[in-house]
Amino acid sequence: MSQPFEAVKVSDRVWWVGAVDWGIRDFHGYATSRGTTYNAYLVLADKVTLIDTVKAPFMDEMMSRIASVVEPARIDYIISNHSEMDHTGCLPQVMAAAGPEKVFASKNGVEALEAHFRLGGRVTAVADGETVSLGDARVTFVETRMLHWPDSMVSYLSGDGILFSQDGFGMHLASTERFADAIPRDVLRHEAAKYYANILLPFSPLVTKTVAKLKGLNLPLAMIAPDHGPIYREDLGWIIDLWAEWAQQRPAGKAVVAFDTMWGSTDAMARAVAEGLLAGGAESVKVMPLASCHRSDVATELLEAGALVVGSPTINNQMFPTVADLLVYLEGLKPRNLVGATFGSYGWSGEAVAKIEEWLGRMKVDLVAEGVKARYVPDAEALAACRTLGQTVGRALGERCAASG
Ligand code: FEO
Repeated sequence: MSQPFEAVKVSDRVWWVGAVDWGIRDFHGYATSRGTTYNAYLVLADKVTLIDTVKAPFMDEMMSRIASVVEPARIDYIISNHSEMDHTGCLPQVMAAAGPEKVFASKNGVEALEAHFRLGGRVTAVADGETVSLGDARVTFVETRMLHWPDSMVSYLSGDGILFSQDGFGMHLASTERFADAIPRDVLRHEAAKYYANILLPFSPLVTKTVAKLKGLNLPLAMIAPDHGPIYREDLGWIIDLWAEWAQQRPAGKAVVAFDTMWGSTDAMARAVAEGLLAGGAESVKVMPLASCHRSDVATELLEAGALVVGSPTINNQMFPTVADLLVYLEGLKPRNLVGATFGSYGWSGEAVAKIEEWLGRMKVDLVAEGVKARYVPDAEALAACRTLGQTVGRALGERCAASG
């Protein structure tokens, strides 16, 4: 019977049976301005195997795509590479509908799935490096703990040479295209960077180890099939090398100025700081007013930057709430190797600058200039101090970049 949604052929025996979420704009705090996909894959081996599922509201779309190539009741195995609900939200319902013989997950995955769905011990734990036979095909599991959760693993389909990498090498990008080679490279790079910066950055040391571990396995790789965004079937090294590079968190010559403003004073200071940064040697400056720039876009810009300068007026003895929101978010992402400074206007108490300095210090941002405060409206002297602050940070940034080669 024809189906409203059809599977997309990936290889002779593998089909994409996921869902496209065109409308999502907030993925646990990350602005997904281009939507996303939840990728699931069907392996038509002797043991028909479904790799990952989709977010719960998209189950019908996935089941329809599966039914376009095989009766869902013929699914023998389900592999759950990652327990987060964008990939497992409908797992109990799929298990009920398909009645698989086995469901596989990592040991941590079994625990996480049980805690989410109370599946009554129906998930089988597989070990790091374990291989499961699908009859005429084999799948090998490789644990990738904390990428993105403790349960995460990837699955490698021998013969076809496909690495099902769950969140790994993914991006939030809704598209009618299923393969990366059909999407402009600049779009891929931006969305891959945004995904890395907002999801993987805190785990960068583990990314380095995991990339080395996967390379060390010397698996013949024909494709990388992540759970979000397009499938790579050409130039796989491009995305692997980008991840390896981002994980290094090397300082780059760009500076980010993030700020909010009450009556325009801190805005004027931000512009003077930006001028100073360029004069001091920053290669480029991204000025990001938080009234119009989302926290996740600031995180994205910081991925390939080396300086963070934060500005806020003081309101009720505090920094602006949008600035606190940004700092909470960035602290969790653990950006490294940044120089920085702070600035802001105030009326009578002026605590914001010191509070931001304290926060940036906790984040291990190297504060290379004393914060600049301006009372009510910055005069020429205050703006000159802002420019000097920018120059000092710009020079420190240049020195850091030169030292890191
Ligand atoms: Fe796409 Fe960590 O889930």
